[in-house]
Amino acid sequence: MGADGLKLLVAGGAGFIGSNFIRHILKSRPAWQVVNVDKLTYAGNLANLKEVSEDPRYRFHRADICDAEAIAGIFSKEKPDAVVNFAAETHVDRSIDDPGLFLRTNILGTQVLLDAARRSGVSRYLQISTDEVYGSLGPAGKFSEDSPLKPNSPYAASKTSADLLARAYFKTYGLPVLITRCSNNYGPYQFPEKIIPFFVTLLREGKAVPVYGDGKNVRDWIHVDDHSRAVEAVLLRGRPGEVYNVGGGNERTNIEITKMLLSAMGKDTSHMKFVPDRPGHDRRYAIDDTRIRTELCVAPQVPFERGLADTVRWYLSNEPWWRAVQSGEYQSFYDRWYVRKARA
Ligand code: NAD
Ligand code: TYD
Repeated sequence: MGADGLKLLVAGGAGFIGSNFIRHILKSRPAWQVVNVDKLTYAGNLANLKEVSEDPRYRFHRADICDAEAIAGIFSKEKPDAVVNFAAETHVDRSIDDPGLFLRTNILGTQVLLDAARRSGVSRYLQISTDEVYGSLGPAGKFSEDSPLKPNSPYAASKTSADLLARAYFKTYGLPVLITRCSNNYGPYQFPEKIIPFFVTLLREGKAVPVYGDGKNVRDWIHVDDHSRAVEAVLLRGRPGEVYNVGGGNERTNIEITKMLLSAMGKDTSHMKFVPDRPGHDRRYAIDDTRIRTELCVAPQVPFERGLADTVRWYLSNEPWWRAVQSGEYQSFYDRWYVRKARA
């Protein structure tokens, strides 16, 4: 895909990874424009994009990806060259409590975006997926792009369905679809319900952290900057119709993660408690990322020890960011910044 003067529509750009990707693109691609379309659910936070909000190459539309009329209107106004879809309900625990919401956003919302992309004739549509579509591994082996899809949570099942729809739009309509399946991300601006920011904020408040089950579940952790670089590479150089796994090459048990966080925060194991397991809790994820390494020459760059230490420092020195999330104040940023600007 030609990279000059590209207009990119990013769905879900006010969340953790989408906002990192937008900041990254506006820095690394001076000729690109970014149109962010986000519903601003509880996980969307415009404070994540404060540093780019005045950039003339950036625009924001508040819209639900399930609202076909609103999405069609945005596509016809903005005429994007390419689409990256990060928008999703993303927390496994919430999907256990309310699967319907996950099916609506993650499946129907994806279909609405695919339709809009098809009608407007974009040159690329990149669906951001997850390694959770492959299910759970035993102690050995890794997920390749050809591993069977065996999702175990309503979240993972909804993401798998979205991947299958994206594939169908490639096969049936020739829409130039690409899919990335990444492992667990960490870094700044992650909503503090996910394990790393949740535990840092609890420990900062002197509370004990709840480890599910025996704590021996394994995740492959990747810094969000490495994920953004991988998404950029797949968008520009990936083969349409293809899936690309993205991993950190960094498997850790939850107990290991917890102990690293305890040590970074100067706490001992009396601040760790074991609590009942998450239902359907996947035991292990591990990624074979040979395809993206060999075809696109992309590999993670951030060493985990350094990345985790920087991340802990970020949460400690950006306490107002997560305090505003805890208090709910962040949900008024849209009214305070955009509605006021529109009225002026
Ligand atoms: P997040 O929960 O932080 O952000 C999701 C964003 O989507 C929010 O800004 C939210 O407002 C927006 N959104 C939700 N429903 C919407 C709707 N109906 N219409 C428009 N916008 C809507 O999520 P994240 O961690 O940044 O994840 C982004 C994507 O990456 C997701 O698709 C997720 O499945 C995938 N992913 C995440 C991880 C991870 O470790 N966090 C790993 C692999 C893949
Ligand atoms: P999470 O951050 O929810 O990501 P995912 O479920 O997408 O992997 O959880 C990461 C791991 O941490 C997962 O094995 C569940 C575990 N976990 C806990 O042990 N305690 C917690 O409070 C949370 C939120 C997660």
